[in-house]
Amino acid sequence: MAALSGKVAVVTGGGSGIGRAIALRLAREGAKVAIGEINVDNGALVVDEIAATGGTAFSLATDVTQSTQVDTLFAETVKRFGTVDILVNNAGIGEMSPQAQERVRERMMKAMGGQRDSLGVTRDLSDADFKRMLEVHLFGNFYCIRAALRIMEEKRSGSIINMASVAGINGIPSAPHYGAAKAGIIGLTKSVAAEVGGAGIRVNAIAPGLIDTPMTAGIPAMGKQMLLMRVPLGREGTPDDIAGAAFFLASDDSAYVTGQVISPNGGLSL
Ligand code: NAI
Repeated sequence: MAALSGKVAVVTGGGSGIGRAIALRLAREGAKVAIGEINVDNGALVVDEIAATGGTAFSLATDVTQSTQVDTLFAETVKRFGTVDILVNNAGIGEMSPQAQERVRERMMKAMGGQRDSLGVTRDLSDADFKRMLEVHLFGNFYCIRAALRIMEEKRSGSIINMASVAGINGIPSAPHYGAAKAGIIGLTKSVAAEVGGAGIRVNAIAPGLIDTPMTAGIPAMGKQMLLMRVPLGREGTPDDIAGAAFFLASDDSAYVTGQVISPNGGLSL
């Protein structure tokens, strides 16, 4: 019998990159998968991919910054699949304006030539950009965790997996709002894990390093090369590298693991 046979998983942002790989992996391991996606077309494509391999899934247009839409996603999942056993809070954004990217690139080039200066990101960060980053990542995680716990606490079991980042552990000089949001997710993970462990619910975070997805496709080649020089395993991660960690945390193999941050990063943090 497949490891996740009979289980129901909600995966946010499951239409692309890491979320897509996680949705496909959990489905392959026997779980029924509900995808909450702001990009409806991509969500539908992944549902088709899962169906083509004999799995069961549906996708619902969901913006995780809207708590009513999140509640609808969970209600629809219970209606179709009966419950929720696994939540993967994966939806995320990593946007920096092209102007800010160019400015960071210029200052990095200067730093390599010995001219050190601030990267000048925070001083120009708008209220709206900072707020949006926290809304998608931190509030989005909160809304989904709250909806999941209303189901999981009743059945006294469940696994919640939140997508953090090495940026939330070490900081990230080019995107302080992203680093803050991801650090917040780690704090939320540990706090809720301590809160709900008594009800048999586990809460963990994954903090990926540099992973090859549409989100990172826009990082200038030089920036990627500089990062990769610090990766002992010598390559970018793949979405499947992260899906493996998510499967572990979703399955009973991690039955004694809670409040932890697992960081598949090729050794970037060493
Ligand atoms: P991606 O851009 O390929 O996928 C993100 C997905 O989230 C997209 O399908 C997008 O439509 C969806 N999404 C965005 N905003 C949403 C919203 N408000 N409501 C619902 N869905 C929304 O990006 P990737 O790389 O797969 O990222 C997935 C997660 O992994 C993110 O949380 C990201 O911060 C995190 N991460 C990624 C790393 C990387 O190197 N790619 C490294 C560390 C963390």
